[in-house]
Amino acid sequence: MTVYKPSEDTYFLRDYLRENIDIEGQKFLEIGTGNGEIALYAAEEGAEVTASDINTEALRQVKEKAERKGLEIDLVESELFENIEGLYDVIVFNPPYLPGEEGLGDEEIWRGGEKGIEVSRKFLENVENYLSEDGSFYFVASSLAEYKELVDEFNLEILGEKELWFETLYILGK
Ligand SMILES: C[S@@+](CC[C@H](N)C(=O)[O-])C[C@H]1O[C@@H](n2cnc3c(N)ncnc32)[C@H](O)[C@@H]1O
Repeated sequence: MTVYKPSEDTYFLRDYLRENIDIEGQKFLEIGTGNGEIALYAAEEGAEVTASDINTEALRQVKEKAERKGLEIDLVESELFENIEGLYDVIVFNPPYLPGEEGLGDEEIWRGGEKGIEVSRKFLENVENYLSEDGSFYFVASSLAEYKELVDEFNLEILGEKELWFETLYILGK
């Protein structure tokens, strides 16, 4: 499986966290950590970090980076919350969020299903079970997907917005 390279969406989510959330000392979970940019940032900020992915190679690379930087990250191979235990103060996910047909390759890094929201919907169906009492969650969505369905269905707030030349990215959460 291809390991996703840090991109506009990665930095959008990381910078949103940097500017808005004090994560020092917080229990922090990143689903779909990929290259680990966000999990490593959280560990550097002093959060207690768990990071997961379905991609074993991604987890191997994040482990290596964390060791090189002397950071501690608990790495878990997991399809969404399948192997996740415990409660977290902050949960983040930069999911595959684009709509598209099956069979085009590298789908785990970009394809969120036919409408671009199916992976995010599964995330939303489970995320509250892993949040501590005052916990919050944040994930990325795109104007190219049917993200408004999720906003209505799960009562989400649009917390951040970034216009790119071909789409607008959003941080959604609660
Ligand atoms: C768009 S990439 C984001 C990677 C990284 N977090 C970033 O922001 O650059 C999506 C990541 O989610 C992972 N992923 C896709 N579907 C997943 C699932 N069902 N459960 C866990 N991880 C998943 C992919 O392997 C990939 O690493």
